[in-house]
Amino acid sequence: MKDDIPHKPLRSQAWFGRQDKMGFYYRSFLKNSGFPQDQFDGRPVIGICNTWSELTPCNAHFRTIAEHVRYGVLEAGGFPLEFPVSSLGEVTMRPTAMLFRNLASMDVEEAIRAHPLDGVVLLMGCDKTTPALLMGAASADIPTIGVSGGPQLRGVYRGEIIGSGTNIISMSEQLRAGEITLAEFHEAEAAMNRSAGSCMTMGTASTMASMVEALGIGLPENAAIPAADARRNLIARMAGRRIVDMVHEDLKPSDILTRAAFENAIRTLAAIGGSTNAVVHLLAIAGRIGVELTLDDFDQLGRGIHCLVDLMPSGRFLMEDFYYAGGLPAVLRTLGERGLLHRDARTVNGQSIWENVANAPCWNNEVITPFDKAFKADAGIAILKGNLAPDGAVIKPSAASPELMSHTGRAVVFENVEEMHHAVNDETLDIDASCIMVLKNCGPKGYPGMAEVGNMPLPAKLLRQGVRDMIRISDARMSGTAYGTVVLHVAPEATAGGPLALVRNGDLITLDVPARSLHLHVSQEELAARRAVWKPPVPHADRGYARLYIDHVLQADRGADFDFLVGRSGAPVPRDNH
Ligand code: FES
Ligand code: MG
Repeated sequence: MKDDIPHKPLRSQAWFGRQDKMGFYYRSFLKNSGFPQDQFDGRPVIGICNTWSELTPCNAHFRTIAEHVRYGVLEAGGFPLEFPVSSLGEVTMRPTAMLFRNLASMDVEEAIRAHPLDGVVLLMGCDKTTPALLMGAASADIPTIGVSGGPQLRGVYRGEIIGSGTNIISMSEQLRAGEITLAEFHEAEAAMNRSAGSCMTMGTASTMASMVEALGIGLPENAAIPAADARRNLIARMAGRRIVDMVHEDLKPSDILTRAAFENAIRTLAAIGGSTNAVVHLLAIAGRIGVELTLDDFDQLGRGIHCLVDLMPSGRFLMEDFYYAGGLPAVLRTLGERGLLHRDARTVNGQSIWENVANAPCWNNEVITPFDKAFKADAGIAILKGNLAPDGAVIKPSAASPELMSHTGRAVVFENVEEMHHAVNDETLDIDASCIMVLKNCGPKGYPGMAEVGNMPLPAKLLRQGVRDMIRISDARMSGTAYGTVVLHVAPEATAGGPLALVRNGDLITLDVPARSLHLHVSQEELAARRAVWKPPVPHADRGYARLYIDHVLQADRGADFDFLVGRSGAPVPRDNH
């Protein structure tokens, strides 16, 4: 232990420091793994919180990352103990991984509190694993460093660069049309996901890894180092070393995740053209740590901030290119130079965010653009309000069509996602490009879990006419790799009785993004009459976790956390177990 820093007794000593019946018990069973007596002498016990799973392919390399964290902890004189928590695989979990984010966060919080841990390193990658672990760790509030697993290398198919998800729809269309063979289709699958790591566009996983860095809860460069790059292992090792010092310094998430840190994260979100999913996740994390954060903060703080990175899904390059160009430190430096960063926000390495990035180089001005030659102007997420979304809705203007940003159209309404999928292939559907597609019952309670179905496919007959975008409105989320003029996260959701539930075919709706409004042209009297005959849909579950979820989930504008999970309890030592 370092002698120069005065330290309070570590919580792990309430287990391991005892020379009585319970001390015997707590130490003895661990000794069967080969830990000698000296490991229990009061050195910091560091949990390595691992979301490794073969069912979460984006996190399948995490055992290796955990080993590098372990080396670092040992080098710094700590006692590392790796433990598993629920893992959330975005691709294979149904009905949506988001349904289980809060469950995993409870797992993390309770595991930290119940065990003899003094600090924790969170291993996070695939979309929902990052917010789940940060939410849980925020509620437990012991020293914490986040380590992201890193993005995959670029996809390469027959010499062509492909991003995560970007060619799935076009290739499935080509297969259906007989333009490519099934063997070519299968070959492309392997070519897109050719290395360990998470999606390598600026989708939700990379957005959240960037949030980890911008919040200061991860080390500099955390966002972009590819999973397959040895420097990903190096940052894991440095995190292992650093967490031991953080325990001695008692530097906790509540010292890092301040209002200033969230403001930095929101501005960074605009500057990277990040996923709309970050909105719900940041709101939920802020709720846990006790920082007041609202949807309006996203609109106000993101205004006037340009997107500085030319990355897919909206741009040309991939996360690997972003790393070689300088990664997030170069973006943060630009924000700081423009007065758009709280420079003194503390980060886990003990320095302020500005100390970390003040001299960050940019090696490629095409991938990371200067502020006055930005890739896209004014890229912050816009928050819409109006009688259709009294508690707010979200749109990403940088992914939308400029000509649709102020538009009035006739609603074409789908009561649920199955009806929508059927209708978009129906040649008799009464719809044209000026219409507004409205999807209900896909919010937190309705789906349940607020699935990524808000970017509805356009009707087949309109696609054939060359239509490429239409206004779509729902209470759902959309994938971070998607784009279009898509209004998301409408709150309250239809299933909870929000006005969205009352929209009918033929109603006129006005979307006015410059005015930040979403208006349904139906009179108060008519809406009241419709409400009188509205019946909530039958819930999708009457027992189990899904029932708990439906009964307790907050609306999107509150981050879709559970009402009883908001806040933090810290990690007081629980009473003895025997
Ligand atoms: Fe795991 Fe995209 S599916 S990060
Ligand atoms: Mg997704």
